Amino acid sequence: MQLSDDVFFYPSPAGLDFSKEICANTVVLKGRKLVLIDPGIKDRLSDLMERMASDGLNPVDVEYIILTHSHPDHLEAAPDLAEKFGSRLIISRIEYEFMKDSAKVFFANHQFPGPEVIFELQEEGTLTASGLELKIFLTPGHSPGSISILWPKGKLLLTGDLYFPGTIGAINLYGGNPGAMYKSVSRLRDLGGVEMVLCGHGPAIIDRDMIIQNYRALFAEIAAKKAAGVM
Ligand SMILES: [Fe+2]
Repeated sequence: MQLSDDVFFYPSPAGLDFSKEICANTVVLKGRKLVLIDPGIKDRLSDLMERMASDGLNPVDVEYIILTHSHPDHLEAAPDLAEKFGSRLIISRIEYEFMKDSAKVFFANHQFPGPEVIFELQEEGTLTASGLELKIFLTPGHSPGSISILWPKGKLLLTGDLYFPGTIGAINLYGGNPGAMYKSVSRLRDLGGVEMVLCGHGPAIIDRDMIIQNYRALFAEIAAKKAAGVM
């Protein structure tokens, strides 16, 4: 699904129904070549490539694969895709260490990246990928090294599983951190110039009013969770 000249969105068919969710949303940004964020699970890779092709995107052009975090519903297909097309694989340094630590928890039913897979480790800061200048923010809360990606030129923010339309990401999984979640969501709320937010699950948030309303909902949820002593 093409959202603008340079932004393509491939939502998981299950939307925000986590009881059915086995895969995450994928985003593709068009630069000199393609930057793909969160390819999802292996079983869905051929479907994803078909959907990209029907939008006129050639998967051969995927130069960068960026992972918002290491959960397998976002990451499992990344090594195969990178190997097939010679793409560079980017993950935050903290999340890379966490992935090794949490493999038994999250990868029991998924393929863990083998030792031959080369990840490039990203710190918070600027990443120029395929000519696109991306701002990488470390936004822990759902997992310790989760990143959010701001593309200022496209006025686009990608949040991974930090938050979704109407709800914050899970904080009760291994590596979750309620205090960090609050700080990370606050940090993203205070970013200027964002007119589209694409999350790791759920539909696109496509204008400024929806973005503001969504932050209101998120902070109401946080306040309720704090009052209930679960955050
Ligand atoms: Fe996740």
